[in-house]
Amino acid sequence: MNVTVIGTGYVGLVTGACLAQIGHQVICVDNNRDKVAALQAGKIPIYEPGLESIVFRHSYRPIDPKADHEAASTPPGFIQFTTDLNRGIEFGDIIFITVGTPALPSGDPNLQYVEAVARGIGQGLIRTQTRSRYRVIVNKSTVPIGSGDWVRMMILDGAAQAAKEELWVGSSVLAGSHSNPRRFDLQSVLPHFDVVSNPEFLREGSAIWDTFHPDRIVIGSDSPTAIAIMRQLYEPIINHSWDPEATPEAQPPVPFLVTDLASAEMVKYAANAFLATKISFINEVATICERVGADVTEVARGIGLDSRIGPKFLNAGIGWGGSCFPKDVSALVRTGADYHCATPILEAVIETNRQQRLRIVEKLQQELKVLKGKTIGLLGLTFKPNTDDMRDAPSLTVIEQLLKLGAKVKAYDPMIQSNQGSLAGVQLESDALSLAQGCDALVLVTEWPEFASVDFDRLAAGMRRALIVDGRNFFSPQQMRQAGFTYLGMGR
Ligand SMILES: NC(=O)c1ccc[n+]([C@@H]2O[C@H](COP(=O)([O-])OP(=O)(O)OC[C@H]3O[C@@H](n4cnc5c(N)ncnc54)[C@H](O)[C@@H]3O)[C@@H](O)[C@H]2O)c1
Repeated sequence: MNVTVIGTGYVGLVTGACLAQIGHQVICVDNNRDKVAALQAGKIPIYEPGLESIVFRHSYRPIDPKADHEAASTPPGFIQFTTDLNRGIEFGDIIFITVGTPALPSGDPNLQYVEAVARGIGQGLIRTQTRSRYRVIVNKSTVPIGSGDWVRMMILDGAAQAAKEELWVGSSVLAGSHSNPRRFDLQSVLPHFDVVSNPEFLREGSAIWDTFHPDRIVIGSDSPTAIAIMRQLYEPIINHSWDPEATPEAQPPVPFLVTDLASAEMVKYAANAFLATKISFINEVATICERVGADVTEVARGIGLDSRIGPKFLNAGIGWGGSCFPKDVSALVRTGADYHCATPILEAVIETNRQQRLRIVEKLQQELKVLKGKTIGLLGLTFKPNTDDMRDAPSLTVIEQLLKLGAKVKAYDPMIQSNQGSLAGVQLESDALSLAQGCDALVLVTEWPEFASVDFDRLAAGMRRALIVDGRNFFSPQQMRQAGFTYLGMGR
């Protein structure tokens, strides 16, 4: 199928690449010229394990009959990159919107990028003279409840505006059907499309795996045609046929859940809010564990074995962050406020998380007393391992607090090599051992796997004071103490 993906970030690029991998023809559109130029040159602007090889394998190149076997055996799916929105609109029978919806200071999501794209789609459908060809417009960006209808309205607004402009210049789009441009019938020029909600549940760091092995695919729509097209698009994933090594008959099909538009949009917010709640819950329990002398890792194991609860998202630590949980929980609170619904649980979840980040600094103060003039080393900066994403990372709160208290902050993260924006004032090091040199304390912020195999004796030996605050309960307390560290975990 011909698919266009607008917005080539963490979600759009992974979606486009995976759709190409399962045999679809994909054009990815982005208005960031540098990003598109890099992608056209085969460079992946984000770090996501496995993404580069899929993009490379499916990047469109004209077939040369004299080329080597690899080119000849390139699978039918391909992926191309462009800044030309109209080219994407002309191409795709299915058009995904995957632009960002970052939080505004109010907590509401910023919909300006979705609006720009929706209007652009409407205009493009008129300008490319393809308005009568049926399209499915898929909203994959996380948007507030009711946005599906709003996106439809924006597309129609864009189309009407373009149609009027075409009419004034006597374009062939409308020529002949309207003798008097001032009295044209808008209905007669409306594009033929449906808007579908298809929320995304991928996790950065395992996005490729998640896309090929989703727990469910959710489609919000009341159009049987659009639903059938979306089912056809995802069929290779639903029945596992994309994977030559899979035995589809041994695996149940991926649940394909069809809902109305508003319910699909709510599924996304409710899922993220629930996961954030689970983490804030165990973090609150962790604080009580510390006071009563219990070990939260044992407690989490004990409750996670209950099949009604499950073990996931019960790791106590520095708290949640990233590009989704903070903005999505805030957005749900704002939606509740808009509809006069109290949201005390969600508000407490946010507040617990805010305090949890600060508990790292409290633990340092507890041991080091005054932080002014002390050197603190942060192991990891990204909001989770296996990504380069720094959006709303807990490390940023810790850095801000430490700098405010007069500490010197150093950091090492395998993915972050340059000080930009919110990392101003942080001295970046090239590995964990050089980070530890001269530090009064280390804080494990991101549980990068490589930190498990550091030489802890050398790490401790290089420090002014061998104190470690393990913000993810990642290390073995015994092992760290044997290496000479004073070890502080989270709730253990
Ligand atoms: N990142 C995740 O893990 C994740 C997971 C699930 C859902 N989501 C949701 O998916 C959406 C996208 O998130 P993301 O992390 O991929 O965002 P991102 O910021 O990484 O990417 C957005 C891309 O859209 C492009 N863009 C902006 N305006 C454009 C325009 N007018 N035309 C073309 N391109 C434009 C930007 O240049 C950027 O490349 C958000 O709503 C987010 O909440 C994200």
